[in-house]
Amino acid sequence: MAQNRKKKIGLIGGGQIGGNLALLAVQKGLGDVVLYDIPAAEGMVKGKALDINQLSAVDGYDCRVTGSTDWKDVAGSDVIIITAGVPRKPGMSREDLLEINLKIMKDVAGNIKQHAPDAFVINVANPLDAMVYALHKISGLPKNMVAGMAGVLDTSRFKCFVAEALGCSIRDVEALVLGGHGDDMVPLVRHSTVGGVPLTELLPKEKLDAIIKRTREGGAELVGLYKTGSAYFGPAASSIAMAESYIFDRKRVLPAAALLEGQYGISGYFFGTPVQIGAGGVEKVITVDLNAAEKAELEKSFQSVKKTVDSVTL
Ligand code: APR
Repeated sequence: MAQNRKKKIGLIGGGQIGGNLALLAVQKGLGDVVLYDIPAAEGMVKGKALDINQLSAVDGYDCRVTGSTDWKDVAGSDVIIITAGVPRKPGMSREDLLEINLKIMKDVAGNIKQHAPDAFVINVANPLDAMVYALHKISGLPKNMVAGMAGVLDTSRFKCFVAEALGCSIRDVEALVLGGHGDDMVPLVRHSTVGGVPLTELLPKEKLDAIIKRTREGGAELVGLYKTGSAYFGPAASSIAMAESYIFDRKRVLPAAALLEGQYGISGYFFGTPVQIGAGGVEKVITVDLNAAEKAELEKSFQSVKKTVDSVTL
C-alpha cells in the first residue's frame, strides 16, 4: 500500500509570526516544518525549532521543526507561508513598508521559483496586496497557487468585536470583510449574521460604525500597543486556516487576496474576496453581489491597492 508522507511546510521568516506559525503547524499536525530565515537570524530559528521540538513530548506531537538558513532545506515544500519582512512601528502605514519589503520579496519569490515551484504559497508580508502581486509576478507560479492572507484576519477581528458587543459566542458570528488589507477594507455588515439573525437587527448603526472603524484600524491598534512590531497570533492562526484547507482539501470558503480576472470589474490585481481553498489551491474566486454603497466602498479600497501596486517596480 502506498504510504502518505507527511507534508512539508516552509515558513519563510522565523520572527514573531513565523515562530507562531511553526507552533500551530506542529500542534495541528499539518506536517514537518522548515523555519527559514537569513543567516543573521540563524540562532533564532534554530532555537525556536529546538524549543518547539522539545515541547512536542508534552502532548505527543509527531511533526518536527528544523531551523535553517539554507533554501535547499525549503526545497520540495508543499506549502510555503511568507512572513519575511519588516513589521510596522507606531505611526507607520502598511504602505510605508513597500520599499524595504519589496526588496525582501524579490529575494524570497526568486528562491521559491527555484526551490519550491510546486508549493501553495501564502503571503503575509505587508503591504499585503502589493507583496502578493510581486510574489506572483516574480515566482511565475500559477495563479491558483498564490494567495494573500488578510481577509481571514480582518474578518476574525470584526467577529471578535461583534461578539464582545453582544456578549455572545464568537462561534455564532458569521461575517465577511472584502477588499484590500488597508484602512479602506470593506466589512460587509449587510452580509453578517449572528446565529442566522442579520447583524443589522441586533446592533444599532452607531455601534456597527464603531465596530467597522475598529476593524479597519485593528492592525494599527496592536502596533500602538506593542510599539516594537505588529500583530502575530492572529496573522499566524489565520494563515494556518488557509494552509490547513489546502493540505486536507477542506474546500473552505475563506476571504483572501486572490488574482481577480474581471470580478468587480477588476483584472490583474490581487484583492480580497471569498475564495475556495482545497487541494487545487485557490479553486474558486467568488464574487459577492454588492449594492451601490458597497460597490463605492470597494472601489475606494481598490484605488488604494492599485496606487501601491502600480508603484511596484519588478
Ligand atoms: N528571507 C527570509 N527572512 C527574512 C528576509 C529574507 N530575505 N529578510 C528578513 N527576514 C526575516 C527577519 O530576519 C525576521 O526574522 O523576516 C522576519 C520577520 O519577523 P518579524 O520582524 O518578527 O516580523 P513579523 O511580526 O513576523 O511580521 C512579518 O508580516 O504582518 C506582516 O507587516 C508584517 O511585513 C511584516 C511581516
